[in-house]
Amino acid sequence: MLVKNEAAEKLWKCYDYMRSRTDFVPKIALVLGSGLGDYAKNIQVEAEIDYHEIEGFPVSTIAGHKGRFIFGYAGDEKKVPVVCMQGRVHYYEGYEMSDVVLPIRLMKLMGAQVLLLTNAAGGIRDGFAAGDLMLITDQISSFVPSPLNGANIEGLGVRFPDMSEIYDKKLRQLMIEAADSLGIVLKQGVYVQMQGPNYESPAEVAMCRIIGADAVGMSTACEAVAANHMGMKIAGISFLSNLACGISKTPLSHKEVQERADAAAPRFQKLVTASIQKIWDAGICGS
Ligand code: HPA
Repeated sequence: MLVKNEAAEKLWKCYDYMRSRTDFVPKIALVLGSGLGDYAKNIQVEAEIDYHEIEGFPVSTIAGHKGRFIFGYAGDEKKVPVVCMQGRVHYYEGYEMSDVVLPIRLMKLMGAQVLLLTNAAGGIRDGFAAGDLMLITDQISSFVPSPLNGANIEGLGVRFPDMSEIYDKKLRQLMIEAADSLGIVLKQGVYVQMQGPNYESPAEVAMCRIIGADAVGMSTACEAVAANHMGMKIAGISFLSNLACGISKTPLSHKEVQERADAAAPRFQKLVTASIQKIWDAGICGS
């Protein structure tokens, strides 16, 4: 029996719509997490597509999260073709995982070979402080369903994709160099994705530490799995907006997370721009 692949059908329909709106071919895809929401001002914008305009597309319900694709040129001289997701949807909003990663898949289909993921997260590791930036070295996605559940979308990747280097080593090196050149301290560690929307309990954070996580958040890992499935080269940076529950002395609030992320925005934006330039100059964005 042929299994009807609804996720694939929706993906191709969304892709056709996006292509009807722009012929722009991005090379680097960026997911703008908390604190990078207004990164668009660093981009020479060529086209914008609001998520609402794309039929069947998941739309974020979170206050302060905008939703649109921005196509244009970024980097030091605004010459690197990029596509940005200004706003992402999260699993805790009630979407299927295949919907949560639909935008990532679309950006690959539009042409992006490299994916730069950003997020806000809670710091777990000793020595981490609120306000730190952490380069993601690896991840734990075992607490959320895989976005690859269900019929495999053959045109995208294989049924059983390898995940031995989700975050590309060369990209990580380039990001470290970009941070060094700006005098920005970049910590490194493993990111764990929890379901949310509740923050973790102290016991859950203690568990996360034991299983090897250095920072905890509610996004990103599922996106990285979907992107790795498609053979994208991936880099990720977490802004540690707070220390995770039980490590932090005070209760967590979304407002505070947002405010801290906004306050760190200039540093985060500089690092993203320098990283984009380095990645482009290294010639690893494909032809
Ligand atoms: N936990 C989960 N997600 C988060 C956190 C946290 O402590 N901070 C920002 N996003």
